[in-house]
Amino acid sequence: MSNDIALPAETDATTTGAQRKVFVKTYGCQMNVYDSDRMTDALSRDGYVATDDMQEADLVLINTCHIREKAAEKVYSQLGRLREMKKARAARGRELMIGVTGCVAQAEGEEILRRAPAVDVVIGPQTYHRLPEALKRAKAGERVVDTEYALEDKFSHLPQAEKAKTRSRGVTAFLTVQEGCDKFCTFCVVPYTRGSEVSRPLAQVMEEARNLVSAGVRELTLLGQNVNAWHGKDADGRELTLGDLLNRLSEIPGLLRLRYTTSHPRDMDERLIDAHRNLRMLMPYLHLPVQSGSDRILKAMNRRHTAKDYVALIERIRSARPDIALSGDFIVGFPGETEEDFAETMRLIETVGYAQAFSFKYSIRPGTPGAELGGQVDEAVKTERLEKLQALLFSQQQQFNESRVGLEFDILLEKPGRLDGQLIGRSPWLQSVNVAGHPDEIGSLVRVRITDTGVNSLFGERV
Ligand code: SAH
Ligand code: SF4
Ligand code: F3S
Repeated sequence: MSNDIALPAETDATTTGAQRKVFVKTYGCQMNVYDSDRMTDALSRDGYVATDDMQEADLVLINTCHIREKAAEKVYSQLGRLREMKKARAARGRELMIGVTGCVAQAEGEEILRRAPAVDVVIGPQTYHRLPEALKRAKAGERVVDTEYALEDKFSHLPQAEKAKTRSRGVTAFLTVQEGCDKFCTFCVVPYTRGSEVSRPLAQVMEEARNLVSAGVRELTLLGQNVNAWHGKDADGRELTLGDLLNRLSEIPGLLRLRYTTSHPRDMDERLIDAHRNLRMLMPYLHLPVQSGSDRILKAMNRRHTAKDYVALIERIRSARPDIALSGDFIVGFPGETEEDFAETMRLIETVGYAQAFSFKYSIRPGTPGAELGGQVDEAVKTERLEKLQALLFSQQQQFNESRVGLEFDILLEKPGRLDGQLIGRSPWLQSVNVAGHPDEIGSLVRVRITDTGVNSLFGERV
């Protein structure tokens, strides 16, 4: 999802009046996408408007990801290029402020200021609401690092609710309902960068959801690092889990579809499975990472379930919602992974059958228990295993797409297609579907029959 920033030739685009412009580049997961929007909202109170053109920005924010080494290192090469841009600007007497936010900011803090002299502010994911203040201090000449796990709730400080009413958001939107992680898988930085698990209160989530729907959103994707660990209380003090939250959201008039991501196998409770059984609005698509099919490796990863547990869980979910499609994440080359462990992962994939998946070579993350383990796997072996795994996952994805041909179902129309008279909609299983239609129809569900598949999309006719 991430592209390098290409630096076009410096132009003298000038920003007139008091209106300053902010360019945000987002890496990593959907939670960063959500946070980038919230930061833009917070800055809009201070007179900033968002721009897609970095050249006209007065402030560039890099919202970073620390999950794998490559993602984290990319930040520094970009900051190097931004430094050149800042110098060129300064030579013309115009200022450029640079901020680093997100998980690299949290993990590296001060170190970023040392390695990247052009950076003005470093703000962790828990303190975005203090960004405007940090920028003021930076303008006064200070280099600011704020990576505390703030005690106050950042969500209640961010103006998402009021902004949602005024800003057009398109047909689909993300809504963070849970953040952080207490699971401490031994390969993963998230518990350190995002802190411990916090659920947003029911009333806050409901309010934001209603505002989004009144701004035209028809499909909501609830977000969390472990979204199915969400828990809350209703007005009567009754304990709620994600299944209950989905049920309540489904009652919002005008909302057509619900999704959630990312979930952990250990938090798939009965109420959530029931929601898949009973709520037609809850799309039959589940991202449920397993990482490995070997019990030995799962144990070393601290996933705290076996491959058999996972398969049994999938069976329960499938019997509740037979048309559900599965998506997953896999890591190859975790320390100590043998050919046999890898073969078990391949077998698990064969058993489950995925519609879509993400797979990665294990990347050593400083500070995590995995980094200390012996038996680190050779890079060439990782590459070879990843290729095999991806070939299998790719063929399953193709098979899944082809299995849609001839089926009839509703798609949610999201945006104009490439050709006049064409629209792009989304299938229940997150596939893009090309279909004939008029732009006025965007935001509605229409029935289609699938006629063909492309590389990354389906083709349908209206029925
Ligand atoms: N909370 C989610 C995953 C969040 S991170 C879960 O528990 O499933 C997203 C994905 O990045 C993970 O599922 C994992 O496959 C991958 N990942 C995380 N740390 C990694 C590392 N050190 N090396 C390679 N991949 C990693
Ligand atoms: Fe990382 Fe594991 Fe938490 Fe997922 S559950 S965010 S992989 S520590
Ligand atoms: Fe990356 Fe942080 Fe998300 S490390 S995957 S941006 S939680």
